[in-house]
Amino acid sequence: MKKNYERYQNVDADDYENPTLVSRLIGKAGDNLITGILNSITNKNVLELGCGTGRFTKLYCKNNNVTCVDINTHLFKLNNVKLIEGDVTKLETLLKDDTFETVLSFWMTEYLNNDDFKKTLIGCKKYLSQNGKIIFTVISKGLWGRCYVAGAKLKGINKYNYSNSQLTEIAQYSDLEIEKTISVKRFGFEFGKIIIFQNV
Ligand SMILES: C[S@@+](CC[C@H](N)C(=O)[O-])C[C@H]1O[C@@H](n2cnc3c(N)ncnc32)[C@H](O)[C@@H]1O
Repeated sequence: MKKNYERYQNVDADDYENPTLVSRLIGKAGDNLITGILNSITNKNVLELGCGTGRFTKLYCKNNNVTCVDINTHLFKLNNVKLIEGDVTKLETLLKDDTFETVLSFWMTEYLNNDDFKKTLIGCKKYLSQNGKIIFTVISKGLWGRCYVAGAKLKGINKYNYSNSQLTEIAQYSDLEIEKTISVKRFGFEFGKIIIFQNV
């Protein structure tokens, strides 16, 4: 069966960055929160999963030592960042002895089912320093999150959204703790969450 991320194979970076209705209506709220977090990351070894064009990477790469992973590397627009092509659910086949203080991933978990989400976090934990943080966004079960997933389904794309109890279960299974959850809302309704996991 075709994997959902294969839909980007015929998309170029500029097409990808063209604003959509969702990015105009809801994306900005998340982008502002994410940018605030990125501004506080300096002098760290950072791993970013599902970097896409690098639209977030470019905001923090100058002050950090960054490694990016994506299955669709043709989308990536930056030249000065280490980029690895591959599947984030198989990190141990992509990384060697690296250790990261921060692992980031924005709007990628919508492509990961429950099992793949766990595999990815277990992989991240292997390369996470003792006090390291994993910062992921997820689409939530809030109103906008449900509309987004239903809209994708109408287009034949399977996307995944996560409830708080599912996230707690995923964190426990992966031997991580949820340190903080930040809600991404627009017009009072939730679209997603930024989750900060830490090593137990
Ligand atoms: C919605 S885009 C988000 C890109 C970027 N993080 C952003 O916010 O602009 C999702 C990205 O995750 C990548 N991706 C999805 N599933 C993946 C997987 N299993 N392994 C590696 N990359 C994956 C896609 O290729 C795509 O670049």
